[in-house]
Amino acid sequence: GERPGRGSAPTFLILENIMIFDTHAHYDDEAFNEDRRELLKELPEKGIEYVVNVGASMESTKSSIALAGEYDYIYAAVGVHPNETAPLTEEFIQYMKYAALHNKKVVAVGEIGLDYYWNEPEADIQKKWFVRQIDLALEVDKPVIIHSREAAKDTADILLGNEYKALRGVIHCYSYSPEMAKQYLDAGYYLGVGGVVTYKNAKKLVETVQLAPLSRLLLETDSPYLTPVPNRGRRNSSLNLPYVVEKIAQLKNVSGEEVIAVTNENARRLFGI
Ligand code: NI
Repeated sequence: GERPGRGSAPTFLILENIMIFDTHAHYDDEAFNEDRRELLKELPEKGIEYVVNVGASMESTKSSIALAGEYDYIYAAVGVHPNETAPLTEEFIQYMKYAALHNKKVVAVGEIGLDYYWNEPEADIQKKWFVRQIDLALEVDKPVIIHSREAAKDTADILLGNEYKALRGVIHCYSYSPEMAKQYLDAGYYLGVGGVVTYKNAKKLVETVQLAPLSRLLLETDSPYLTPVPNRGRRNSSLNLPYVVEKIAQLKNVSGEEVIAVTNENARRLFGI
């Protein structure tokens, strides 16, 4: 039946026992240098239950671990983004392995993947470190957070081939076709959905959200990037997620509360929280 939250302004933000899980943020980014402490303190008071702060370079992997140590409700992912792999070393892989095995707040390996929008470094080097970090995730038995941009075929060849059937994870900021989404869903992957779903040109993503079961979607911001409408153009934070919730609720014809509750459960299941 009708429940509050459907098609209305995001007034379901503050509800006891129904809180949002932001599965992908970069609160170590310099965009938060001025007010990081104040903003992070506000999150639990404003309906955000958990955040995974995602590593994107060697430096931000370390600062993600530090943030997770400071705040109960922040968890960390360790990993190096494809465009940051040029300086990556096996020594740093071993550092991440140690953290993933011994620090309970480290819940995933990411963000890792392929990004051919920027041909930096060249594809062979990106692939080498993508595969090495997938192996790391299997060694420490953690899920992966995948970043893939303009690299649909090479990413699918690796993730959907026979070699990595045991791998679990999320395709962050899913941007490929609904047909390919079906293949990832069939292989057990979750799809990360954020601000992009509110953009006018998000046709493929809208179709993907409609076909995917709610039990396989995760909420994410990629803060400070990818701010949803109506705040597009400003710095993003987890506090904008109700706009994403509202859009998903419309597309799947369910209440906002259901979107929040089910995606929260999905994230806990994937990250073992
Ligand atoms: Ni990211």
